[in-house]
Amino acid sequence: HLNLFSRRLHAPTSQSPSFGIAFDIDGVLLRGDSPIGGSPQALKRLYYDSATYSISSLKIPYVFLTNGGGVPESKRAEELGKQLGVNILPLQVIQGHTPFRELVKRYENDLIVAAGKGEPANVMSEYGFKNVLSLDEYASCFENIDPLAQYKKWTKMRAVDRQMALTTDPCSQRVRAVFIVSDPVDWSRDIQVLCDILRTGGLPGREIAHQPPIYFANDDLAYQALFPAERLGMGAFRIALESIFNRIHPNNMEYTSFGKPSPFVFKNAENVLTQVLQSAYNNVQAGGETPPLKSLYMIGDNPSVDVKGARQAGHPWFSILTRTGVFKGKENHAEYPADVVVDCVEEAVDYILRKEC
Ligand code: G3P
Ligand code: MG
Repeated sequence: HLNLFSRRLHAPTSQSPSFGIAFDIDGVLLRGDSPIGGSPQALKRLYYDSATYSISSLKIPYVFLTNGGGVPESKRAEELGKQLGVNILPLQVIQGHTPFRELVKRYENDLIVAAGKGEPANVMSEYGFKNVLSLDEYASCFENIDPLAQYKKWTKMRAVDRQMALTTDPCSQRVRAVFIVSDPVDWSRDIQVLCDILRTGGLPGREIAHQPPIYFANDDLAYQALFPAERLGMGAFRIALESIFNRIHPNNMEYTSFGKPSPFVFKNAENVLTQVLQSAYNNVQAGGETPPLKSLYMIGDNPSVDVKGARQAGHPWFSILTRTGVFKGKENHAEYPADVVVDCVEEAVDYILRKEC
C-alpha cells in the first residue's frame, strides 16, 4: 500500500522518465561477488523512497547488460538482488547468452551441447531446448575422450544425470550445435571434445564431416574479476579453440559470437528498458503507448566492448566509462573514447541524475 501510495504521490504520468540506464556488471557493479564503486547506493537512487526497492517503486528504468552468465536470468536476478540490496526482475537481466533463446525453434529437439561454468544445460533448458547436455555430461559418455582426466583430481567422472528427452545413448546421437554459454572451466578437455564434435559433424571418434554450428555468448578477450590484472575471457578461449581447430582441420572454424558490442544487443536492451518502464509505471500510466526513451546510458568498464558497443549503436545511446574495471587510465580511452569518464558507478549515476532531473 505504501509503495502504491508513494508512487501515486511522486510519479504521476507526466513525470515518467524519458531515459534509461544499462549497467555492465563485471568491473562496474561487482568484482567477483563483491559490490564495487558504491553500486548498492547507486542503484537505490533509482527508486522512490521505499523499504522494498522493488519494481513498484522503481523511478528510473534500468537493466543489467552483461556479457557474463552461466545461470538462468531468474536465478541471476535473485543473486544480484542479494548482492546489491534491491529487488530485481528477471526481465532486467540481459546476459551474454540471453539471445540464445531466439534459436530454440531451429534446434528444439536436436541434441545440443552447452559448455561453460555454472549451469549451462539448465540455462538452455529454461530457454526451451529439449535435448541438451552440458559438455561435462556429454564428455562423460565417452570413455577415454580426455586422456588427462585421471590427473584432474578436482573432477569426478559422472554418468549423464540429465535424462530429459534423451531417448538414445548420446554417444550415438549427432550433436547438431554447440553453445558456449559461459566461460569454460577445463580448457584442455573442452578444446579436445569440441574439436572432436566439430571435426566429425557431431559424432566424436568418427570420420571427418561437415562442422556443426558453434555459438559463443560473447567474444570478450578479457574481463575484470577480483585479481588486480584482467583475466582471460571467452574471446580468449575462442581464439585458442579456433587456432587449434584450424591447424588440425581442412576448413577454418565457422562460428557466431553474441554479446556486446553487437548493435543487436543494444537494440534489444532499448526494448527491454521500455518494457521495464511499462512494468514500473503500469498502474499510473493513463493508457496508450509509452513514449520512446530519449536517452539511454551505457555504464561500462571495457572500452572495446561497452563503449564501442554504445558508440556503434549511436543515438540515443550515451557511453559512460568507469575506472573500476578493465579501463584504468587517467584520461579517456584513445581508440574508443566514452562520452564521459568517471571513477565509479556511483559517480556515473550521479552524473546522469544531475543531467536528467
Ligand atoms: O565473463 C564475464 C565477462 O566476460 C564480462 O562481463 O558484466 O563486464 O559484461 P561484463
Ligand atoms: Mg565489464
